[in-house]
Amino acid sequence: MDLRGRPKCCSLHLGILPLIVVALVFFGYGFVSHRSQELGDSEAVTRVAVGELDVQEVVALSRIVYTQPKALTPSRKDVLVLTPWLAPIIWEGTFNIDILNEQFRLQNTTVGLTVFAIKKYVVFLKLFLETAEQQFMVGHKVIYYVFTDRPADVPQVPLGAGRKLVVLTVRNYTRWQDVSMHRMEMISRLSEQRFLHEVDYLVCADVDMKFSDHVGVEILSALFGTLHPGFYSRSREAFTYERRPKSQAYIPRDEGDFYYAGGFFGGSVVEVYRLTKACHQAMMEDKANGIEAVWHDESYLNKYLLYHKPTKVLSPEYVWDQQLLGWPSIMKKLRYVAVPKNHQAIRN
Ligand code: UDP
Ligand code: GAL
Ligand code: MN
Repeated sequence: MDLRGRPKCCSLHLGILPLIVVALVFFGYGFVSHRSQELGDSEAVTRVAVGELDVQEVVALSRIVYTQPKALTPSRKDVLVLTPWLAPIIWEGTFNIDILNEQFRLQNTTVGLTVFAIKKYVVFLKLFLETAEQQFMVGHKVIYYVFTDRPADVPQVPLGAGRKLVVLTVRNYTRWQDVSMHRMEMISRLSEQRFLHEVDYLVCADVDMKFSDHVGVEILSALFGTLHPGFYSRSREAFTYERRPKSQAYIPRDEGDFYYAGGFFGGSVVEVYRLTKACHQAMMEDKANGIEAVWHDESYLNKYLLYHKPTKVLSPEYVWDQQLLGWPSIMKKLRYVAVPKNHQAIRN
């Protein structure tokens, strides 16, 4: 075939090509329109998967002037920037936010941020939302989904253009462990009911935190988890996975990639739906068998992400505790950090 010309095979079929295109557009629309899918039956989920595996489409960019990537110069020499399954690990210095912002803006991306503020945890909402306004997905469309049993205590925080807040009134649980674990159930239920129709990606976050530096579209991918700040330098044997074989969250000592934090994960709505549904089902099975995983929802999240490899992994820049861990030199930015709290007082 002549590289400059049209290959023969294609010119022969030019006559029927428009017909094929029309047919594909007509019958294929439901497959690519990822916000309009229902998740009722397994067949629907399978069909969604085709279009959802790679949420990010290839878009035509305008001219941008930026520092050239150098094939012989690593972006970081001090940290791992790629998993063995070729998912990027997001550290400061590995990405160009201007390119990414243009790509996600051209896609008109909408991001949902789910956060639970049950019982006394409503006190964390104000700082969480105020700092999210300054640092989280600035320049993109954002919907905050605040799950709470105290809707009257949700603070009025002024929101920027293209950003809104939805209060979802939900039940509470007596045990803090149940509050934490039932987030999986509530996120999966709301994903089916409305997130699927309203946003492209979901970010699921703890509320007892604040944004202290940029958190943007560099985190978005089909499925992402965050390296837990307490374990990023540890061996798998030291990870606090659930070690009792009786539990659905069980991980043997010779398995495990990373220890992921329960307080910051996400992905496309359909992938977050699958993750939260699977974790909730595993928790219910454990409950029926009289067992609860050692670190609650975080243990089930770790089990899921071991066998459903995330397509991006966030460095501990995205979940940090400065009071506990200080500011090591590999951490160029602390983006989402723990707000000191009295565990006993706030949980009871
Ligand atoms: N949570 C809540 N009310 C509670 C307990 C927990 O709203 O009474 C939610 C809240 O979003 C919190 C998350 O569950 O950030 C996880 O709990 P916590 O932050 O206390 O766990 P830790 O990060 O200390 O392990
Ligand atoms: C702690 C954290 C817990 C849990 C645990 C896992 O530092 O406060 O929420 O993630 O690590 O070992
Ligand atoms: Mn927390």
